[in-house]
Amino acid sequence: MSTTAFAILISGLILLQVAGFAAFGFYRQQVRYRALERLEPDLGAPPVLTGATPPAAPDMARIPAWSGDREFVVQRRVIEDGNASVCSFYLAPADGGPLPSYRPGQYLTFKLEVPDPATNTTKTVVRCYSLSDRPRVNQYRVSIKRVPAPANGPDAPPGVASNYFHDHIQEGARLSVRAPSGHFYLNEDSKLPIVLIAGGIGITPLLSILNTLAHRGDPREVWLFHGVRNRGEQIMKEHLASLRDTHPGFQLHVCYGEPSEEDVQGVDYQHRGWLDIRLLQKTLRFGRYEFYVCGPPMMMEALVPALEASGVTPENIHYESFGPASLTKRRAPVSTTVSAPVAVRFSQSGKTIQWDSTSESLLELAEDQGIRVDSGCRAGSCGSCQTRIESGEVTYQQTPDADVEPGHCLLCIATPTTDLTLAL
Ligand SMILES: Cc1cc2nc3c(=O)[nH]c(=O)nc-3n(C[C@H](O)[C@H](O)[C@H](O)COP(=O)(O)OP(=O)(O)OC[C@H]3O[C@@H](n4cnc5c(N)ncnc54)[C@H](O)[C@@H]3O)c2cc1C
Ligand code: FES
Repeated sequence: MSTTAFAILISGLILLQVAGFAAFGFYRQQVRYRALERLEPDLGAPPVLTGATPPAAPDMARIPAWSGDREFVVQRRVIEDGNASVCSFYLAPADGGPLPSYRPGQYLTFKLEVPDPATNTTKTVVRCYSLSDRPRVNQYRVSIKRVPAPANGPDAPPGVASNYFHDHIQEGARLSVRAPSGHFYLNEDSKLPIVLIAGGIGITPLLSILNTLAHRGDPREVWLFHGVRNRGEQIMKEHLASLRDTHPGFQLHVCYGEPSEEDVQGVDYQHRGWLDIRLLQKTLRFGRYEFYVCGPPMMMEALVPALEASGVTPENIHYESFGPASLTKRRAPVSTTVSAPVAVRFSQSGKTIQWDSTSESLLELAEDQGIRVDSGCRAGSCGSCQTRIESGEVTYQQTPDADVEPGHCLLCIATPTTDLTLAL
């Protein structure tokens, strides 16, 4: 063969190889894209409930958040786990208008009117639920776990709001909802690989982050560690397995603390035991990551300090607990001690109490005095304990997630720094 023919043959082979690689890359992208479409189908535009036609594909980022309550209609309910204790609710605005976007990780605040057996009337209950899917223009989704009476107090009433959602909120029900809020969300400025660490139902805000990254085709590594008791408790099992099979950068690590006899290691779950720092150290490759942690207080109180102790910079650890946790968020480092004794006056009840730091918060102090205060999350998220300050000043144990009106404070995370008069 002549040198020219040989050169043409080699060039042809190289071209063929390049075309082959390109075709394979294109095919993989298509498979991934179709899988994502299949996994996260749009439910279509919500029914027009008031006759208003929603504008075509509005830019969610430009739609301002509403203030106060907005009415939503439940479009669909989906049970998400083997125990049937977690239900997703798909919500569309009753006015048929477009929805503002949110940062993946944020939550909605619901105001429910639930029956009150004590008075035979209804009472208002305010609760927060994380958005559990990526932002969509025409619907929000929350996933709610039914909360039973505590194991050590079986005679106590079961969780009010979660059981009300499961038992009474059917398709077509209307709900009062406040706009998305919260400071636990995906850091869009960071280019680091991402580690999501969830305990039980704490997976919901992390699902929103994960689905957003998958939908964008974000090329970064994303690790999800999810700790549950066993298969019965694992939510959205198929969705997560499909994401793992189709999203090359996604690593799924499920830990079963109490696997049942039917649960198969390597199929249903990867690790036997509870999610802890040793597992993270053993599994994660050497390098820097952006960590997002959400779970029960015990898990958080162990894991977050352990991450810091193992050298992760605090700025790279984001966390949220679904209720009061002794883990004080670093976002607003404050001292809860006051140098001089201060008096707290509840003007409407006519009571004045000396603050002596034995109460965790002003909410606790008021309740100890038998003063009725609305409360929901007890963690600065739902805004229901907001109270007007008539005089004096308070400090917060953590940055409030709920918006606080000027001249008001959230009693559940506030302590006084001066003599204080509250409109209660
Ligand atoms: C920012 C944020 C996001 C959240 N996201 C989610 C989410 O995505 N999904 C989710 O499922 N949850 C989420 N939560 C938790 C949710 O807001 C509620 O706290 C949860 O559903 C429990 O509310 P409940 O009204 O059902 O229970 P509650 O009525 O508040 O009761 C809580 C517990 O106290 C017990 N109890 C009640 N009365 C007594 C008594 N007298 N003595 C002893 N025990 C008693 C109940 O039996 C129950 O075990 C989130 C919370 C926050 C703050
Ligand atoms: S009880 Fe929810 S903000 Fe205080």
